[in-house]
Amino acid sequence: MAGFPKKLRFLAGILGFSLLWLWVRFPYEMRNASEKLLGISREIDPLQLHLSGEFVESNLGTEVDSQGSVTVRLLAQQYDFVPRCMLVPAGAAIHFRITSADVVHRFTIAGTEDQLEVVPGHVSELQAHFEKAGEYTTPCHEFCGAGHYNMLSRVVALRSDAFPKLRPDQRVNCATP
Ligand code: CUA
Repeated sequence: MAGFPKKLRFLAGILGFSLLWLWVRFPYEMRNASEKLLGISREIDPLQLHLSGEFVESNLGTEVDSQGSVTVRLLAQQYDFVPRCMLVPAGAAIHFRITSADVVHRFTIAGTEDQLEVVPGHVSELQAHFEKAGEYTTPCHEFCGAGHYNMLSRVVALRSDAFPKLRPDQRVNCATP
């Protein structure tokens, strides 16, 4: 029985480690599993962004669904938000979905408290309002490299009666070539 305490210590170590794993990882694994089941996973592979899925270039910009909900999808990458200019209806709830192709960026709306950390591998979400029609700048507020200080996009909010008059392809973005 000389080795008993040692064995016991070993078992206690394994048990402790398992409990620690459960405590740290379990909520995360459960959330991931439930998001996958519900089809709302926020995990995304940065290497596949340009090839397929929600953030391919043709799917970026403003989308209005059949219920009238407005979603803006953006890709953050050194040193641009794509698209660089977004059209939205003023006064409506705008749901932003943003991911990063490379490093951590921070999407902000100048003159408001709204900001969103954008991390590669993850879809970040923000609900925003643009009460008045006009132009809003949306700079990056996380140092992301040499071009950080020029990383800027803008939102053009149109009067709520003007926005629906645009064709769906005109609503996507207002970036000039
Ligand atoms: Cu992106 Cu700073």
